[in-house]
Amino acid sequence: MLEETGVGLTRLEEIGRRFARALRPGDLVLLHGALGTGKTTLIRVLAHALAVRDAVRSPSFTIANIYSGPVTVNHLDLYRLEDVGEEDALALEEYVTPDSITLVEWPEAGLRSLGNPQWTVHLQHQTLQSRAVRLEAETAEAKQRWETAA
Ligand SMILES: Nc1ncnc2c1ncn2[C@@H]1O[C@H](COP(=O)(O)OP(=O)(O)OP(=O)(O)O)[C@@H](O)[C@H]1O
Ligand SMILES: [Mg+2]
Repeated sequence: MLEETGVGLTRLEEIGRRFARALRPGDLVLLHGALGTGKTTLIRVLAHALAVRDAVRSPSFTIANIYSGPVTVNHLDLYRLEDVGEEDALALEEYVTPDSITLVEWPEAGLRSLGNPQWTVHLQHQTLQSRAVRLEAETAEAKQRWETAA
């Protein structure tokens, strides 16, 4: 859907603002990418574009930060999921509600319990300041929203 190389911070912000316009309550977004590729940075852009005023940083001692705004934004980071244990892992799906938008860093460990995403993002390092970005809508309806958000 969107596949772009040489994406600097300014361009990432543009992409993020368009993406935010395409998001709807109930959406689940999985963000894949190695350490430091910009998952949190993109989530910060999305949250701000969704009018969240809370500081956006990765949850460190918990699995999720919940930001309030016109739409509630759940920011999950499953990097340390193994430390949390099976019991909490099974409750991940409870974050995904019809009236909130859920953005997940390091989703690999939670794929089974999160359910099907509407969107998948892949970020890769290119140089210190640029990234390769791939953004995919996982449903025809989400793709339509992306087109409309241009
Ligand atoms: N083009 C770019 N896109 C995204 N981040 C960039 C870019 N250029 C530089 N950066 C910097 O790279 C860093 C990305 O860090 P960030 O915390 O967003 O990564 P992350 O993918 O969430 O890492 P982690 O896996 O540790 O959570 C930030 O300091 C950001 O400013
Ligand atoms: Mg991060």
